[in-house]
Amino acid sequence: MKKLIIINGPNLNLLGRREPEIYGSQTFANYLEVLRKKFPQVELEYYQSNIEGELIDKIQEVGFSYDGIILNAAAYTHTSIGIGDAIKAISSAVVEVHISNTFSREEFRHQSYISPNAKGVILGFGLLSYDLAIESFL
Ligand code: DQA
Repeated sequence: MKKLIIINGPNLNLLGRREPEIYGSQTFANYLEVLRKKFPQVELEYYQSNIEGELIDKIQEVGFSYDGIILNAAAYTHTSIGIGDAIKAISSAVVEVHISNTFSREEFRHQSYISPNAKGVILGFGLLSYDLAIESFL
């Protein structure tokens, strides 16, 4: 059984309530159930933190044993050399995910410290971006 983890960064705990016109009106807890039902062949873990160092700790903790990490580092995508370095340091493959199309938004969202070290990037498909990322590991 493939062991994957979704790691969500800052403010993604507010999905469903946060700017629903951009991020939709579903909570991630609800969507996680949808994903687990859709991919019964995957052992799917979930972690969310608003704190940069906690995200790095989690990446280090799982990054040598899991088959893959699906990472939406949210705003830290655009700022965090530390998370970028963590991805470089581990052996598990990382797929970068974004709910929105960051390239159709503000200029500061066009920069990613994750992409250069990611296996691939999926963005702009709403929550379906997570499904596509899981599929990329199957
Ligand atoms: C996001 C895009 C980021 O620019 C933003 O800071 C987020 C969410 C997305 O999933 O679309 O918090 O990563």
